[in-house]
Amino acid sequence: MVETLGVVGAGQMGAGIAQIAAQAGINVILSDVSDDLCRRGLDGIRRLLDRSVERGRITPALRDAAVARLRVTMRLEELSDADFVIEAIVEREEAKTALFRRLDGICGTDTIFASNTSSISVTRMAASTRRADRFIGMHFMNPVPIMKLVEIIRGLGTSDATLAVTQDLAALLGKETILVQDSPGFAVNRVLLPMINEAVFVLQEGLATAEDIDTGMKLGTNQPMGPLELADLVGLDTCLYIMEVLHQGLGDSKYRPCPLLRKYVDAGYFGQKSGRGFYLYDERGKRR
Ligand code: CAA
Ligand code: NAD
Repeated sequence: MVETLGVVGAGQMGAGIAQIAAQAGINVILSDVSDDLCRRGLDGIRRLLDRSVERGRITPALRDAAVARLRVTMRLEELSDADFVIEAIVEREEAKTALFRRLDGICGTDTIFASNTSSISVTRMAASTRRADRFIGMHFMNPVPIMKLVEIIRGLGTSDATLAVTQDLAALLGKETILVQDSPGFAVNRVLLPMINEAVFVLQEGLATAEDIDTGMKLGTNQPMGPLELADLVGLDTCLYIMEVLHQGLGDSKYRPCPLLRKYVDAGYFGQKSGRGFYLYDERGKRR
């Protein structure tokens, strides 16, 4: 049973994971690289909890109890008390392995490390620590408080005990799980990201407007969001990095990132989080 959860990265995924864990009665230490980013993560969680109170989904007392279980810090050393740590930082392998190496020296030997990576090898990240048996992929979906799935990825050395603790944690957080072997993009993003990337090719080739591509996929295939608005929600930087992992890892040209996707990322158009992607957004992330 996880009592204290460390979450590293207070962006959209880390904040979401911290929120649902605090609501499930777990003490959470949420960390990012600056006080400002930590504060922003916490403010976002507070806003969503307030909205849940307004909507009558939780009582004010439950909201206050969840907030009281959340601590934010930019000092990674404060995660030394955590018995389970979930990493949710940028989708770059060097950044993640550098972080896990540091955490390996900070946390107790029994602490389990999980990565929320969308695509990167769990086995390779585990090899940067001395606890490959206590290392696992725990891939939440965005938005975390709403989406039902956690994809669990077993690295080569992941032990049965680590898998069992992770499955129990996911259940406590109210999630359904699927179990997938370690391979670039695992199962969900191996299917989803090529679709998003192909939608960007359709846009790049001028075959239809962004709105028409999205409307076509929404009304034509019953998806809640079109692929381009979904890419804006995920983050175009994250979409590009996942495509790069698929392309390099699987070695098939069908996974090459669309040049227009790369161009948008080069321009700083990261989607909802930067105010501009395929669409424009206000400061609260609402479509203009
Ligand atoms: N965080 C928390 N709650 C959110 C939210 C967010 N980012 N976005 C929307 N919600 C909430 C809204 O507040 C609303 O709740 P209320 O009842 O309080 O109003 C509820 O969700 C429904 O929202 P909306 O009415 O605004 O819009 P909607 O009905 O279209 O639902 C959606 C929004 C749930 C995001 C829906 O469009 C959807 O399911 N989209 C697809 C999401 C998806 O495919 N996610 C997977 C992405 S891929 C991934 O995560 C893996 C990866 O590695 C990239
Ligand atoms: P984000 O850009 O919203 O947030 C990332 C956060 O990590 C930022 O606040 C950044 O400051 C912080 N960070 C970067 N390096 C750090 C470090 N060394 N130490 C501490 N904090 C650091 O990104 P996100 O969308 O939350 O994605 C985070 C992870 O979750 C990525 O691996 C991504 O692939 C994965 N993921 C994303 C989605 C999605 O739809 N966005 C879905 C599932 C999984």
